Amino acid sequence: MSASPSSSASSSITGAAARAPSDVWTGAGRRVFMQDVGTRDGLQSETTFVPTADKIALVDALSQAGLAKVEVTAFVSPKAIPVLADASEVMAGITRQPGVIYTVLVPNVRGAERAIEARADELNLVMSASESHNLSNLRMTREQSFAGLAEVAAMAHQAGIAVNVSLSCSFGCPMEGDVPFETVLGWCGHFLEDLGARGVTLCDTTGMAYPTQVVALVRAYRERWPEAQLTLHFHNTRGMGLVNVIAAIDAGADRFDASLGGIGGCPYAPGATGNVCTEEIVHALQCMGCDTGVDLERLIAAAKRLPPLIGHPVPSQIVSAGRRLDLHPRPRDFDAIRERALARDA
Ligand code: COA
Ligand code: ZN
Repeated sequence: MSASPSSSASSSITGAAARAPSDVWTGAGRRVFMQDVGTRDGLQSETTFVPTADKIALVDALSQAGLAKVEVTAFVSPKAIPVLADASEVMAGITRQPGVIYTVLVPNVRGAERAIEARADELNLVMSASESHNLSNLRMTREQSFAGLAEVAAMAHQAGIAVNVSLSCSFGCPMEGDVPFETVLGWCGHFLEDLGARGVTLCDTTGMAYPTQVVALVRAYRERWPEAQLTLHFHNTRGMGLVNVIAAIDAGADRFDASLGGIGGCPYAPGATGNVCTEEIVHALQCMGCDTGVDLERLIAAAKRLPPLIGHPVPSQIVSAGRRLDLHPRPRDFDAIRERALARDA
């Protein structure tokens, strides 16, 4: 490493054209905000109903592990997503940690009423950048969704609650293919400028994003709205989740959704698989020196609670393999091996 500690600590891994190659992938000094969506995006695609008390324990474990934001649940129709029918009870049961933002997914006015009643810190509104996906998922055209969400945003602001908007299929739609950048950015503009949302989450609902596309979209968003929050939400459907996170950080992003254990998907997106895995992302970012504020050991312990609750193993490679410096014992006959090896030189 040729860079001095002070220069690498203060430098960003974004932008600056002239920098030492050794600086390019250092996360030193960078704060990256991790937001867990496992109890929402993750559990919504499971067929097993996880008991309310276990959901509450998972949310509490996540907030105690230092996640910046936890998407606790979704106030959607219990007929559409029966496994999240206990959203109000979960919100009432959690122990709120100071500094953690408890957000909830809200698709419509009925959901907003329930979420406000449950004292959510933020309403995460949802709509799709693609018309086909919006119709399939929310049974409305995008214009109809937007009109409904304008009403929801007004209710939230009236109640003094912040609004974020998750824009599904921002990196491609499984039915339509690529969604033009201008379409994605156009909807971002409507939400940020017309509805007063504090941020947008660009969602790669079905894992179609790839790194150069991510860099271009993040840069375009950042140029237009340097002050607004920007969250990236990747699924690992085609194995590009982590590399998309790194590409996004390099382009100036600092907030990521991820799910504990890597569980998740979308019931209306064919072939959808899990979100990027929170402990895998935190582990990778910590290796590179980023400050995530997360206690990785606690996070892994929380992820290990999942398999018995959902009835199958989790995709998390950190749960399977452990951290890179969780060392293994040498072979039992190691001394004999060494002696034999040394004897060859004698
Ligand atoms: N909370 C509770 N109940 C709700 C609700 C909400 N947010 N939204 C609708 N309902 C209820 C209505 O009260 C109605 O109940 P009833 O049949 O007893 O009268 C029923 O659901 C149908 O309502 P309707 O307004 O006709 O909505 P819909 O059936 O067209 O559903 C959605 C639209 C979007 C609300 C619903 O499909 C939904 O919640 N989907 C979940 C989408 C989702 O979360 N996808 C994953 C995210 S990627
Ligand atoms: Zn998702």
